Amino acid sequence: MSADRRPLTLAVPKGRVLKSVSRLLESAGLDVSPLLADDRTLIRESADGALRFLLLKPDDVPTYVEYGAADLGVSGQDILRERRYDLYEPLDLGIGRCRMVVAGKPGMVLPPMPRIATKYRRAASEHFAAKGVQADVVYVQGSVELAPIVGLADAIVDIVETGTTLAENGLVEHEVISTVSSVLIANRAQFKLRHAEVTELISGLKRAIV
Ligand code: PRP
Repeated sequence: MSADRRPLTLAVPKGRVLKSVSRLLESAGLDVSPLLADDRTLIRESADGALRFLLLKPDDVPTYVEYGAADLGVSGQDILRERRYDLYEPLDLGIGRCRMVVAGKPGMVLPPMPRIATKYRRAASEHFAAKGVQADVVYVQGSVELAPIVGLADAIVDIVETGTTLAENGLVEHEVISTVSSVLIANRAQFKLRHAEVTELISGLKRAIV
């Protein structure tokens, strides 16, 4: 890092993918000890000051990177597909693998104009529109599995990883819409300005993924 530069800044998602992100970054040769600290600080810097991590809600990672508050980030394709971000996506990290599905009660038969609860409005609308079905898509932020149980919706569109949440709430998968994983994202300007550092990191990540 040159003296006049801020540390290379990575936006990482808090939550279940963070452990896999840390492991991958460590295998790529980065000092991830700041990420392992068990505290509530939202900015973590490496001991040599070369690297800085921003710990964010997963949905906010692309925004920080798009606006240049972070140079790079790790984001799920589910989030990236929901809005149009102006970003580079140089590498699929192969972690955080899950699938976007239509789920509901066992034996569910959807009415001609089904009501679908989801936080993935675009994915749900596009999926049903492609089938010629006019769905009434209702936005909910989380605990979406509740919606068909209490009659808010006929079905849900959501992310499934282990299937435990669906099973424990008596729901089943009816259709897989797409597969999802976490990808590296990069701010367009910083990708060019910090090309050497970014390329080195990408090479390290590629070796770690192999
Ligand atoms: C996600 C998703 C499901 C659950 C699926 O929710 O929305 O509810 O994980 O994971 P599983 O198949 O391994 O059970 P998350 O844990 O992010 O919480 P949320 O309900 O607040 O969105």
